[in-house]
Amino acid sequence: MKLTPTPADKFTFGLWTIGWAARDQFGVATRAPLDAVEAVHKLAELGAYGMTMHDNDLFPFGCSAAERSKAISNLKKALESTGLKMPMITTDLFSQPVFKDGGFTSNDRGVRRFALRKVLANLDLAAELGATTFVMWGGREGAEYDAAKDVRVALERYREAVNVLTQYVTDKGYNIRFAIEPKPNEPRGDILLPTVGHALAFINTLQHPDLVGLNPEVGHEQMAGLNFTAGIAQALYHSKLYHIDLNGQRGIKYDQDLVFGHGDLHNAFSLVDLLENGGPGGGPAYDGPRHFDYKPSRTEDFNGVWESAAANMRMYLLLKQRAKAFRADPEVQAALKASRVDDLARPTLAAGESYRDLLGDRSAYEEFNADAYFNGKGFGFIRLQQLATEHLMGAR
Ligand code: GCO
Ligand code: MN
Ligand code: MN
Repeated sequence: MKLTPTPADKFTFGLWTIGWAARDQFGVATRAPLDAVEAVHKLAELGAYGMTMHDNDLFPFGCSAAERSKAISNLKKALESTGLKMPMITTDLFSQPVFKDGGFTSNDRGVRRFALRKVLANLDLAAELGATTFVMWGGREGAEYDAAKDVRVALERYREAVNVLTQYVTDKGYNIRFAIEPKPNEPRGDILLPTVGHALAFINTLQHPDLVGLNPEVGHEQMAGLNFTAGIAQALYHSKLYHIDLNGQRGIKYDQDLVFGHGDLHNAFSLVDLLENGGPGGGPAYDGPRHFDYKPSRTEDFNGVWESAAANMRMYLLLKQRAKAFRADPEVQAALKASRVDDLARPTLAAGESYRDLLGDRSAYEEFNADAYFNGKGFGFIRLQQLATEHLMGAR
């Protein structure tokens, strides 16, 4: 299998990732700003499929209409000349002072109306650029202090905002779906819709739930101590995996945004195995962009930026190769069978069987040998994990 990325691999990068000037809480920037046009050319050269952005990655907040349209037309030219796509766009509702208490859920109604206007304008831009996914990461939608935010009312305002936006794209006839990106905390002490599960429940309350799905990020679930692959499996189960943010995270701490696979490698392996081999007949379970949302560490110069961009794609392709080898190994297939992984797909009651039939089935209870599970009937899951690890390490 080839390890050189091509657009067919559907790798995309946020302009804010490779363009991050590495300013953090404790220090000034260590890199110069990156021009959007240069980013497009460089990503195309590296074999990426597309680039994504916030409105204000491309043009500054509060700039003139002329400055905005110049930046857009330069970007469009670069996209056209390279063939790079812009499949997703998103709105910055977090960096400016006006959004210090959030956008859709700020306690200040004027801010909420301003935020909605900013997003509506950005939806027009998304349609103009042909983006079909609109990510909503509510980084500032939250609070530090319990008495400061009525969470039930905040969720109602969030819901109102999303309903307005879905109505807008419906009325405009835009081919755009929304993807909510959960995160437990940072920059707020606590963020609304903190995990995949919270967001799934929220989506069910919306006016157009079909237009709203998820953009889960590896590090965000892992910051909450959760298993990202399991979260993605549930998002797929509910047909809500509209987009994905790939990166690396090492345990429960600040959002590290490492290169994909540079954090919890086992979980990255099972994730790629799920995305690539977890679909019908062993094919892909997800066909959208493989989007990297990482930060080239503050220690890196521009060589390091492009090295790290390439590393994300190479890690994905390596994991894809390893996951294919894992699935193709007859020993793995035998171990999966021995672990009865396939038996879980059998409905617990037979076709047409009712609980009355179950109650009448003596072999299910009265004659069932539950004692056999003491000192016997092991499931062999560790062997399976060892085989996975050996494939992951290239040892098989
Ligand atoms: C973060 C988030 C962001 C979002 C981006 C898109 O933790 O900083 O992951 O990078 O993905 O703002 O909305
Ligand atoms: Mn993040
Ligand atoms: Mn993200």
